[in-house]
Amino acid sequence: MNQSLIDSILFKAVKNHEKQNFSEAEQLYEEALKIQPNHIGCLNYFGTMLAQTNRKKRAEQLFLKANQLQPNNPFVKNNLGNIYYENEDYNKAISYYEAAILLKSDFVDPNLNLGIILNNMGHLSKALVHLNEVIKIQPNNIKCYAIIATIYKEKRNFKKTLDIYKKIFEIDPENLMATTGVVDLFNTLRLKNLKENNSYDLVEIFTFLYKKNSINHNMLFDNAKNLIIFDEYHKRLKNLFETEIKLLNDDLIISILKKELFHLMLQKSLFRDMFLEKFLYKVRKEFLILLNNNETDLLEENINFIFSLAIQSSLNEYVIFQSDEEINLVNELKKKIENNNIKEFEIAILACYFPLMKSKVITEKLLNFSTTNKLFEELINIQIKDILEEEKLKKTINSIEITDKVSKKVRNQYEENPYPRWKHVNKISKINFIADFKNDISPNKVPLGSEKTINNILIAGCGTGQQLARQTFYTDSNILAVDLSLASLALAKRKMSELNSKNIEFLHADLLNLKNIKRKFNVIECMGVLHHLNDPEAGLKVLLDLLEPNGYLKLGLYSEYARQHIVKTKKLLKKYNYKNTINDIRNSREMIKNNTDNKSFLKLNYNYDFYSTSSFRDLILHVQEHLFTLPKISKILENYNLKFLGFTNPHIKKDYSKLFNDDVTNTSLQNWNNFELKYPDTFKSMYQFWVQKAKN
Ligand SMILES: C[S@@+](CC[C@H](N)C(=O)[O-])C[C@H]1O[C@@H](n2cnc3c(N)ncnc32)[C@H](O)[C@@H]1O
Repeated sequence: MNQSLIDSILFKAVKNHEKQNFSEAEQLYEEALKIQPNHIGCLNYFGTMLAQTNRKKRAEQLFLKANQLQPNNPFVKNNLGNIYYENEDYNKAISYYEAAILLKSDFVDPNLNLGIILNNMGHLSKALVHLNEVIKIQPNNIKCYAIIATIYKEKRNFKKTLDIYKKIFEIDPENLMATTGVVDLFNTLRLKNLKENNSYDLVEIFTFLYKKNSINHNMLFDNAKNLIIFDEYHKRLKNLFETEIKLLNDDLIISILKKELFHLMLQKSLFRDMFLEKFLYKVRKEFLILLNNNETDLLEENINFIFSLAIQSSLNEYVIFQSDEEINLVNELKKKIENNNIKEFEIAILACYFPLMKSKVITEKLLNFSTTNKLFEELINIQIKDILEEEKLKKTINSIEITDKVSKKVRNQYEENPYPRWKHVNKISKINFIADFKNDISPNKVPLGSEKTINNILIAGCGTGQQLARQTFYTDSNILAVDLSLASLALAKRKMSELNSKNIEFLHADLLNLKNIKRKFNVIECMGVLHHLNDPEAGLKVLLDLLEPNGYLKLGLYSEYARQHIVKTKKLLKKYNYKNTINDIRNSREMIKNNTDNKSFLKLNYNYDFYSTSSFRDLILHVQEHLFTLPKISKILENYNLKFLGFTNPHIKKDYSKLFNDDVTNTSLQNWNNFELKYPDTFKSMYQFWVQKAKN
């Protein structure tokens, strides 16, 4: 047969294949194979295309044939390895990859894939051998470095893990994989024995991370705070706090106020620490008094710190206590600013105590004021322009009337205090829902058939959109986001447009009234919402009617065991008649902070939600909440024919598996109940889990 004819058909086939004209390519490959069934190139290319278009069985046949014809061809062996790898037949995949490497030791693909498989199987050292081989051949292979970093992390070799991430940032400072990896590392690990003179590197990397807007800086806070107030400072600061000596006269304090990392932290992460709160309280008061005494040198010198503190005050929604003396001085300052020209340091101090938008006169003045200070500009954006933008956005969101009595009360709370307040999220590369879902329910697996593409997702009770941020990166989904609170929705809509989201539609409604929207969803997520309904099961029924048969539902429900201290605190606050006002919230926080003998109170000091107004209200002063236990949840799932697929938090699953290693899918709710009885704080945020609706 004419060789040049085959070559020309194959050339055309490959061209079409490259352009993803798969059906033209397929016809041409078939034609070539008819003429020459044993053509290795054709078997290999065609097999690759079939695998790419999800026809793995035929691809396997072609590769096996090629392998028989040319048993020493490493590329064919690698292709077979890929087929078995994708079919999760790891032992076969390993043997083909190893064979490919024996034939061609500098072959990157099989080394990398072997590294990945061996890592997934827990053979960390063996995985490292292959991954290091890849780095020898391709010293800038970021994907490979990212896997090596996870291995060192698993081996608890913190220094090497960080070195690898630094290496990635040298190659690509914006790399998302490394950014999320390093944030996750610092979120799970507590840095110890930090001293000023051994922490320059860490300060550098934290400053680098804090400058990014593509991460959730709250995840860095617990470690970053120890890079501001080093252990060796604590005693001296504590002594200072207890005396009447002015903090601003102390050199150490002044040097702390000048730290760039401190400013960035104040701008980007919510301060959740008693000691630092005290520090901020005292310093803020001293600056206010200096201003009142017209001693402005120190104020102007520290203007960036004060602006950063004002931004922090927006983040914590002015939750930090204000004494009567301060309130009087602030009222005078407000009047002075209303009647005079804008001075930046006066605005900065005022904004540490008072949301600027609350004064119409000041708002007008600031809207016509221009500044060269970036932080001042940011403050005006956060406190004025963003809020005006949200007012406009409210008018663009469709509404369904809210009628239920309890829903109205709950709505009112979240209109006044949208929750959660958030600034930035971890940006990730585009992914599809299924990849995220598989990860969430791991080590459990569900056979994924026709549901491979998920295109309709309902987020019932989306709040301010933090929960939606991840979904904006889904490539294959349209999302309907519903909430009772229009203020929360407007905030969510503004933040989603900042993230360039195109796939989310917002609806202002009670989920109880979604019965008539005539839409069905493959996936529904309802996190931290049903327990705020008058009758959570009534809400569940509505959601299940909206869910397709076999559809997935993610729920977040409060745990009775984990919230015992909150129940006790709620009772006490009720007894003392504390209400939802900002003053009562500040005062009740002081009572909780100062009463260190009360174990429930002590526990609250460590709760993230203790540190902002909306979260404190959500945590302790909620108008409506129900608590659940796992036996109770189990019964509900049984009644509604729902299959439990797994909890979503990977860290608790690791601990659970050590105790119940025969429950390989981690889905026995009975075992989980025993686990929770042993460790009652396990579900301190909530029970968060996936269930699947039955076929019909
Ligand atoms: C604790 S927040 C959780 C927000 C979001 N799911 C998250 O995880 O970030 C509860 C949210 O549920 C909303 N919500 C409560 N009851 C609701 C109902 N019946 N229908 C719709 N939204 C509701 C509230 O307005 C609030 O925004």
